[in-house]
Amino acid sequence: MSAATPGIREETAAGLGGGTGPVHVAIIMDGNGRWAARRGLPRAEGHRRGVEALRRTVRAAAEQGVRFLTIYSFSSENWRRPQSEITELFSLLRRFVRNDLASLSEQGVRVRIIGEREGLSQDIRDLLDEAESRTAANLGLTLVVAFNYGARAEIAAAARALAQEAAAGRLDPASIDEDALADRLGTAGIPDPDLIIRTSGEERLSNFLLWQAAYAEFLFMPILWPDFDGAALAEAIATFRNRERRYGGLGAASAGA
Ligand code: IPE
Ligand code: IPE
Ligand code: MG
Repeated sequence: MSAATPGIREETAAGLGGGTGPVHVAIIMDGNGRWAARRGLPRAEGHRRGVEALRRTVRAAAEQGVRFLTIYSFSSENWRRPQSEITELFSLLRRFVRNDLASLSEQGVRVRIIGEREGLSQDIRDLLDEAESRTAANLGLTLVVAFNYGARAEIAAAARALAQEAAAGRLDPASIDEDALADRLGTAGIPDPDLIIRTSGEERLSNFLLWQAAYAEFLFMPILWPDFDGAALAEAIATFRNRERRYGGLGAASAGA
């Protein structure tokens, strides 16, 4: 084994799951609207069924050995949708936290929220705080909910925090390295995602985890999010395990040749 790969955090490079992984799966849950449209149903029904898919996926992820599951549930660009749809998405989040927190906690799930809290109403902020504090001691799967999240805003906020610390004389600008920035992101302390899945066939990141995705494997699946389940996750994990991650080095076939 070579020395640690520069820029790759050790826990990700080694894989906490004993070389099998993925330790951290991140999902862009896309296709709720199309799922509903194909059935002649309102988009809101697609979002409701999307929450059911999320419940299944959290259980399946824990069963399949995933330690961190990050889900993109509302992007900073989703404010461009009609107000009625935004209201529906927010009320689904409220209901999810209120109804599912006890059961998530029973499953040992620890909840972390990433994204911009400012600009959210106080009741939503209180709910998000409650979800984190009530599950903080749990030792099972960590569910990272990206809500009102945008990766560029997250990186800009980290840069701002570094600048403020430097201006206050608490940080030497020369000491700022990749870890210093990563430690000021919403995902501080969470290993980078090993696998990023996007459902619905779209093949783009839509401002999700831009920093953290540096060496993630990507999987774009045609399945629409409301249809996603444990079998789809198992298929994704099997595909991931067949990939060779090289981190800029040489693959197993050429190493030592
Ligand atoms: C994903 O489904 C849910 C959110 C973005 C909140 P969409 O609502 O984007 O569904 P499509 O892409 O219109 O099918
Ligand atoms: C990305 O999906 C955001 C979430 C899944 C929450 P979108 O459906 O909003 O992305 P675009 O607009 O197709 O890029
Ligand atoms: Mg979409």
